[in-house]
Amino acid sequence: MHASLLDILRCPFCGTTLSLVENDALTREGTRIDAGVLGCECCAFPIVAGIPVMMADETTQRALHALEAGSTEQALFGLLGLSDEDGRQERFRALIGQETSTYRNALEILCSDAESTYFLYRFTDPTFVTAEAILTAICQQRWPVQGRTLDLCGGSGHLTRVLTHLRDPEEVEEVEEVEEVEEVEGAEHGTSNSGTVLADLYFWKLWLAGRFTSPNSAPVCCDANHPLPFARGTFSTVVLADAFPYVWHKRLLAEEMMRLAGADGVVVMPHLHSALGDNFSAGDTLTPTAYQELFAPHHPRLFSDERMFENVIEHRVVDLSLDVSPEQLGTEAALTLVASTRTDLFRRFELPSGHEGTDESSEVRQGTLTVNPLYQVELLGESSILTLTFPTPEYEAEFGQCRRYLPDRITVEADLTGPISREKLGPDYEELRDRRVIIDAPLGYC
Ligand SMILES: C[S@@+](CC[C@H](N)C(=O)[O-])C[C@H]1O[C@@H](n2cnc3c(N)ncnc32)[C@H](O)[C@@H]1O
Ligand SMILES: [Zn+2]
Repeated sequence: MHASLLDILRCPFCGTTLSLVENDALTREGTRIDAGVLGCECCAFPIVAGIPVMMADETTQRALHALEAGSTEQALFGLLGLSDEDGRQERFRALIGQETSTYRNALEILCSDAESTYFLYRFTDPTFVTAEAILTAICQQRWPVQGRTLDLCGGSGHLTRVLTHLRDPEEVEEVEEVEEVEEVEGAEHGTSNSGTVLADLYFWKLWLAGRFTSPNSAPVCCDANHPLPFARGTFSTVVLADAFPYVWHKRLLAEEMMRLAGADGVVVMPHLHSALGDNFSAGDTLTPTAYQELFAPHHPRLFSDERMFENVIEHRVVDLSLDVSPEQLGTEAALTLVASTRTDLFRRFELPSGHEGTDESSEVRQGTLTVNPLYQVELLGESSILTLTFPTPEYEAEFGQCRRYLPDRITVEADLTGPISREKLGPDYEELRDRRVIIDAPLGYC
């Protein structure tokens, strides 16, 4: 973590500021802290792999003790949930030792259930496409993403990556300059600035984000069922996508999100499952009326996810003037909630095309053109034949709407089995990017 994160971190229990407790496990490179212990007025929290863990459960306590005993590796394995019985510690050691290791390989070691499928293909599923569009639209206003942004329950950082790229380019450039200097000084972990914060309950997801998906964001491990470990009014935008029903203490969480967004901040909640509709992995859902009530002080408006998706896919538009009542949503499965006292936000936005602005800034984006992992690639002479292949029937049932933009089969007049450039794709480049057949993926993603 970057030392500047200490300015905004607060203890979730006593609310006091944190400071770095000097100990043997401390590794610090310039302004980055890789391992160490943070102390408040009531307790202590470990920092492992540059990620502060702002919890007090048993696993965290064990990590703290391992750190204090000088074993950062045991602290890391414990937090990642890797035991040595099934050989995963060894596989993980091998993985971090290889320069060619990928997000996909790491996910195979760190996650053994269906969530790994959700994450690997997250960049192009329909709910992500809509959420990305909403954030991009809001960003055109400039003000909401100036200052800090928080991606709460942000998983392994897919939308966080979008947020880091949407920030004021000048601001990002300044950060990049600082980072470059630090890189020369030998800092190992990409996480450095605290402008975009990624928070999640699971350490392994944050580790993946720091290493691959969103290396320019600041990961913080915390439980959204507790007060959030940040100072009041810290963030101009608080995003919580596809996760609110998984948190039991919704009333507390809503109050916390508004506390962090401050009086003129924005709370954005894409893909919120409604109790009145049918959802996959629904969680403990509430009705649209109940969600609206929880955020009442922040003037929440509700939007139909179906209509939002339709507008994005068909017209490249996000229209925040089209809010609907809970009655109008009826039994629709999911909705989007946007809460802000700033009324100028609620208007129609035209989206830039999918390929705009990515090439010029690809270094800042730390990305590379990649075939969407949902495609199998077969090389025939000079051409590549791409076939849409769903990883599981369940994935297809949940996200099959991606067929609206992903063709079942497409032939590209280029060899797509090696590195891909805009020049290589020639006149097809724009369409392939707009349809998300070719994506701007993080380096080493798959
Ligand atoms: C369906 S995923 C969505 C991830 C991310 N927001 C996205 O859109 O890609 C739900 C996320 O909520 C996180 N989550 C669930 N309960 C949480 C809690 N109590 N505190 C923090 N995060 C939690 C999970 O770990 C998971 O990453
Ligand atoms: Zn405390």
